[in-house]
Amino acid sequence: MISHEPILWNDSFLTGIDRIDEQHKVLVNTLNEANARLAGNVTRELLEQITRDLLSYAIYHFETEETLMQEYGYAGLATGDAEKHRQEHRSFSQQVVALREGLRDGRLVTREELLSFLNNWLINHILYTDKQLGEFLNNHGYKAQT
Ligand SMILES: [Fe+2]
Repeated sequence: MISHEPILWNDSFLTGIDRIDEQHKVLVNTLNEANARLAGNVTRELLEQITRDLLSYAIYHFETEETLMQEYGYAGLATGDAEKHRQEHRSFSQQVVALREGLRDGRLVTREELLSFLNNWLINHILYTDKQLGEFLNNHGYKAQT
């Protein structure tokens, strides 16, 4: 897959945790919309808007996952998996913040640079880190919302 092409949602992304999967679909849609919007003129205003909206939804989503880690005992495991997971979230947020600081200083990124970073991060994080969390939650009595 060329990393800056739209992400095609498929069932391999499912973690089996309804609220995480719904939020992941929103994130994939957000990235695909950003992809379409960046097909035209890439301005600083547009990059600022896209990264601001993405960061705020990502932070909300990370909080959802990190709350579930607490509620179901994942955070207390001696393996340190929860801490590694949270560290991935923090690293993502820090990279987007750094990118936004760069924008303020006039350092723009290209559509390809931005989307290859965002798409690769999200896909890798879902496929490895979030699926591991999903499996744990499902094995420890996760109750669906509905
Ligand atoms: Fe996560």
